[in-house]
Amino acid sequence: MKLGLCYTVISPENKMLLEAAEKRGVEFVRIVDGESVLQLSGKPKEELDVLLQRSVSYSRGLCLAYYYEKSGCQVINSYQAAKVCGDKMLSSLELASAGVPTPKTNVCFSPEAAMDAAEDIGFPIVMKPVMGSWARMVNRLNDHEALSMAVGCKEEMGNPWQKIYYLQEHIDKPGRDIRAFVVGEEVVAAIYRNCTKESGWVSNASRGGHPTECAVTSELSELCLRASKIAGEGIYGVDLMESGNGLVVHEINHTAEFKSCASATGIDIAGSIIDYAVSRAKS
Ligand SMILES: Nc1ncnc2c1ncn2[C@@H]1O[C@H](COP(=O)(O)OP(=O)(O)O)[C@@H](O)[C@H]1O
Ligand SMILES: [Mg+2]
Repeated sequence: MKLGLCYTVISPENKMLLEAAEKRGVEFVRIVDGESVLQLSGKPKEELDVLLQRSVSYSRGLCLAYYYEKSGCQVINSYQAAKVCGDKMLSSLELASAGVPTPKTNVCFSPEAAMDAAEDIGFPIVMKPVMGSWARMVNRLNDHEALSMAVGCKEEMGNPWQKIYYLQEHIDKPGRDIRAFVVGEEVVAAIYRNCTKESGWVSNASRGGHPTECAVTSELSELCLRASKIAGEGIYGVDLMESGNGLVVHEINHTAEFKSCASATGIDIAGSIIDYAVSRAKS
């Protein structure tokens, strides 16, 4: 059994994973994405049974997942999972078609259509890049003027992916949202991410959101497992909000950070991930 861990840098999460593996006597081949050379006409330098793929970059992650899957390795999370989770348009579409409650979302490709799309949802609206994280460029826009300015900036940027307008219903959440961790068939931990003065209306830990423990109820667990099915079995951070009509899922993260969730709940998320990777290698 040969396991690999692919990463960009030794982040706190990757350090926790390596420590959890060492504690269990599990050895990992380390693959640094920036140092990798993928010889497309040959086999990977390391022939692995399972690869934990934790690249920060979406594009590197996709290339590496595809490459290692082609060599017969089980990549966690899979290429298909990364593709769906890393693109908000694909994930929203999959969530809605799987019948998972999710905020109303419209996607379009021109400034004129963006006005119509927002009108259909109603202001305020939330505009996000289809590929992005840490709440970067996630904007809450209160009216036509604000939307027109934000769209105008994106039109000037030149990046075609930024000209996909992903517009979402604003959920009037109670100053917090929920991040739940799915490992295989289980929700192992969940936290509230409380908005703070620093984070404003977003709640990401990277923006200063404050984590506190959230009970994993059967409702939360059932919904997260149903939601993560859109990407197949794996390891996910599911983002949910408490709306007036119950829980809604707005995002599934395929390379989620878990340091703040582990410290707020005392749960050994890294250990669960390693045990799961080993079980997949044996399956
Ligand atoms: N539709 C929404 N209504 C209210 N708040 C939202 C909405 N969408 C996102 N947020 C807030 O913005 C944060 C970042 O949005 P998210 O879709 O998770 O993007 P990212 O991939 O950047 O984390 C969320 O954690 C949440 O606090
Ligand atoms: Mg998020």
